[in-house]
Amino acid sequence: MAKIAVLGYGTVGSGVVEVIKTNSAVVSKKAGEPLEVKYVLDLREFPGDPVQDILTHDFNDILGDDEVSVVVEVMGGTKPAYEFVKKSLEKGKSVCTSNKALVAAHGSELLRIAKENGVNFLFEASVGGGIPIIRPLNRSITSDNIQEITGILNGTTNYMLTKMADEGLEYDDVLKDAQARGYAERDPSADVEGWDTCRKIAILASIATGKEVSFEDIPTEGITKISKRDMDYVKKMGMSIKLFATAKLDGDKVWARVAPAVVGKEHPLSFVSDVFNGILVKGDMLGDVMFYGAGAGKLPTASAVVSDIVDAVRNKNVNLGLSWSEDKQKLSDINTMQVSKLVRLAYNDKAKALFAVKTGFGDCDIIELDNVKGEFAFVTPVYTEGSLNKKLVELENTDGVGEIINTVRMG
Ligand code: HSE
Repeated sequence: MAKIAVLGYGTVGSGVVEVIKTNSAVVSKKAGEPLEVKYVLDLREFPGDPVQDILTHDFNDILGDDEVSVVVEVMGGTKPAYEFVKKSLEKGKSVCTSNKALVAAHGSELLRIAKENGVNFLFEASVGGGIPIIRPLNRSITSDNIQEITGILNGTTNYMLTKMADEGLEYDDVLKDAQARGYAERDPSADVEGWDTCRKIAILASIATGKEVSFEDIPTEGITKISKRDMDYVKKMGMSIKLFATAKLDGDKVWARVAPAVVGKEHPLSFVSDVFNGILVKGDMLGDVMFYGAGAGKLPTASAVVSDIVDAVRNKNVNLGLSWSEDKQKLSDINTMQVSKLVRLAYNDKAKALFAVKTGFGDCDIIELDNVKGEFAFVTPVYTEGSLNKKLVELENTDGVGEIINTVRMG
């Protein structure tokens, strides 16, 4: 009987207890022995919930109990999660977590401590919720040089962008709707500013490069500047906007970015709608492989955590060797990355503005909306980001041109 402790009895923590109970037969079979949740740590009381019988408010009860071989950290944040996880690993307990903030900030160190202690630090649920992606990257796609990972890694923003496109709503209205449904937090910044996505792509890029990709180094834009009017142009083009996280690997060079992208129907991620996540991985031998499913939610996320528990129990005292080194992976200057953009341009004189676009960018697709005066949109050719941005500044300073209202990268 493997004894488990669950730190945090929120949405994911209660999901983990539920999955272990509901699927005890299959989980025991896969793990090679039955699992028992011996402790749940939470500051709150849960009167009437059977968890009350195994509830503790003191982490030391868990740390000091040598019977507990696996600690599940589903508290979120880094304080006190980091301290609890580190102490558990040092005590020879494997740790399974869904906490991307913890993994992105301290993953390298925690992986090393796990290795030193012959246990495992596993975090399948930290990226893509219930979608298996960490394990395939670590243990399945081992014959390839990974060339690119592009993902829709945040369900909340994908839901909001889908709703804006499908229902013609403004950003503020879909945000309120996402909050009412419990997808977006009252402070939605981590999702809508792209910070959650940024941590997730940092984790995937660290696995792919074998070095530590710091999330602080990844240029990150969220969806807050996307308006209904932007969406109208994109819909007229038969395309959609997705919040993409991308890491491109080319030898020692690695570009990474989080930003909205305009994608056509031919893009494999274009069908990933609502709260779903999708991840496209390109290997040099494998070609493209796609992962799709529920990127959040109680039971999908808990399912991924429990799959880690099964791995930890099956591999007691054997470090699975999943790690990236503590060496920093330097990221390439994003200004050298090749990019094309959809540009919304306000004009004072339409003929002069069209001429300026043609002079600066050649024959571009011009998109106009019915009943909208004073602006049009166009798609630039591909340039490096740095030179494109310079050209756009020149365009904005040309006679007849008003201002650049918004730009969105083509995906
Ligand atoms: N806020 C995250 C999302 C939760 O919307 O995808 C899962 O990490």
